[in-house]
Amino acid sequence: MNRRLGILLSGRGSNFLAIADSIAAGRLDAEIAVVISNRSEAPGIAPALERGLNAVVLPSKGLDREIYDRKLVAELRNNDVGLVCLAGYMRILSGYFIREFPMRILNIHPSLLPAFSGLDAQHQAFEHGVKFSGCTVHFVDEGLDSGPILCQAVVPVLDDDTAESLSARILKEEHRIYTEAIALVLSGRFKIEGRRVIPAR
Ligand code: GAR
Repeated sequence: MNRRLGILLSGRGSNFLAIADSIAAGRLDAEIAVVISNRSEAPGIAPALERGLNAVVLPSKGLDREIYDRKLVAELRNNDVGLVCLAGYMRILSGYFIREFPMRILNIHPSLLPAFSGLDAQHQAFEHGVKFSGCTVHFVDEGLDSGPILCQAVVPVLDDDTAESLSARILKEEHRIYTEAIALVLSGRFKIEGRRVIPAR
């Protein structure tokens, strides 16, 4: 499979950096073909440029979803991207985009899906009073945070946690499992039965 990754982000970019670190350390056999932010002020862009990566800002503000996604897909195609990794990309993808990269788009979400989909998942979990939360890497389909699940990690919620301390503990696991999930997809060594992603033995 084409190992050229297209990273989409909107903010801080710590998941993007964790992926870049995994590649640099030889833990992940892949290449970052392009990093695209839909927000010019995203802090994740500067470290991408510092690392000599191809980083592009494509502002989405005010644009119709599909019109914007056509620009995104063109940029990804220009860079011969084989796998799209959403890394804190805070915009819902159009059906057009998803059909252009079938089962070739991954997302990381900071909860144990299907619990607490949508925005601010860590705060939702904290306020709900769950004793365990975590994070999920899943294929992206046309629903909200709803595609088949590749990897999850469980994180305890401690009695003296704040939403922020919980978020930090979850983020550490995000950085670990995103690399694992990408490696699994690139290996092609799994099958999908219904919604279940089953790694080959
Ligand atoms: C991460 O916690 C990620 O799971 C979350 O945004 C944060 C981005 O951080 N994504 C979502 O909530 C998607 N629904 P980062 O920019 O440092 O990677």
